[in-house]
Amino acid sequence: MVKIAVPLESDALEGRVAATPETVKRFKALGIDVTVQTGAGATSRLPDDGYEAEGAVIAKDAKTTVADADIILRVRRPSADEIKTYPKGAMVVAQMDPYGHEKDVEAMAKRGLTAVAMEFMPRITRAQVMDVLSSQANLAGYQAVIDAAEVYDRALPMMMTAAGTVPAAKVFVMGAGVAGLQAIATARRLGAVVTATDVRAAAGEQVESLGAKFIMTEALKDASGEGGYARELTDDEKAAQAELVAGHIAKQDIVITTALIPGRPAPQLVTKAMVESMKPGSVLVDLAVERGGNVEGAKAGETVEVGSAKVVGYLNVPGRIAATASLLYAKNLYAFVETLIDKETKALSVNWDDELVTATVLTRDGTVVHPAFAPEASA
Ligand code: NAI
Repeated sequence: MVKIAVPLESDALEGRVAATPETVKRFKALGIDVTVQTGAGATSRLPDDGYEAEGAVIAKDAKTTVADADIILRVRRPSADEIKTYPKGAMVVAQMDPYGHEKDVEAMAKRGLTAVAMEFMPRITRAQVMDVLSSQANLAGYQAVIDAAEVYDRALPMMMTAAGTVPAAKVFVMGAGVAGLQAIATARRLGAVVTATDVRAAAGEQVESLGAKFIMTEALKDASGEGGYARELTDDEKAAQAELVAGHIAKQDIVITTALIPGRPAPQLVTKAMVESMKPGSVLVDLAVERGGNVEGAKAGETVEVGSAKVVGYLNVPGRIAATASLLYAKNLYAFVETLIDKETKALSVNWDDELVTATVLTRDGTVVHPAFAPEASA
């Protein structure tokens, strides 16, 4: 019988969990045994007894949890110490964050683990249900507005009262991908006046369908790159964009930045001078801070004052809304693992040529196999 293990996340910042009672129930229905470490779901408001009620075994510590596991489900890449306790040959499914952590990838290979990086899941229709980047970015976009509203310490909607009228806050969202679109929708629900920008022309229609105004410089026709992502701008395009942003930002109360370019540091979109041009008490939330930041002066894990504005740089924003994020993340993982199980024999039966597998598997049989990390393997 296939055995799945769900350890407690060891990173203090991580409140999410890789399985929920609902996914345990579905794994059990596939004929899979599930062991959950005690307390693994606590910070996602999922107590042990909920897992137990769906047939999971609750283990007292990390080591016991993973003993004999065929598949280990996690939110984050395991630490070097954790890897040592994992059974040889086990498959570890997580957001591996492998760039810059090549040594950790090698360590998983050496241990004989099959490391699966969920964030590399191709964005094809069949895999939409497994798309952890989308499920988590969507919630990050929502949470960014909630965080901004908290720091802003004034009302967002226009309020017409007997005592007078309060104007609506102006919110500017930079980068209208998955996170940005949800930020726009959330800010609109809170009654803000919302504008947004992106370098992909296609984003304009989506922004407008959410009731926000799309702002884009004439000089920049379209900077769509491969796979629906953005490409890096040329220097001329960057200058044109900066001019547009500089004029607009001075009139905003809240700015939420979400701009990313695959495989590159986040583009800097807001300079210190632009932040200083904003009104006292303005708030910027930089969702790209872990990738270098869109806002000059943003600090990962901190809220800093730049001029008279506050720049918010929370780490792990989906983890700030862990109970909701876990529900979706766990479903993403279930959907992927389900494809690895033979429904007749109930055994693990991986099709190593499936594009979902080739795109996400980093290590296998003692070696690093992913083309991005072992170029010789793809030759
Ligand atoms: P992302 O997280 O890589 O980037 C966020 C946004 O920043 C993107 O919209 C990008 O165009 C924008 N950006 C980059 N440089 C910028 C700059 N200099 N100024 C302003 N904005 C800038 O992207 P995300 O959110 O992962 O989605 C990218 C695309 O993928 C979208 O078109 C989305 O609809 C598509 N997508 C497709 C899926 C599927 O087919 N299954 C699933 C999810 C997203």
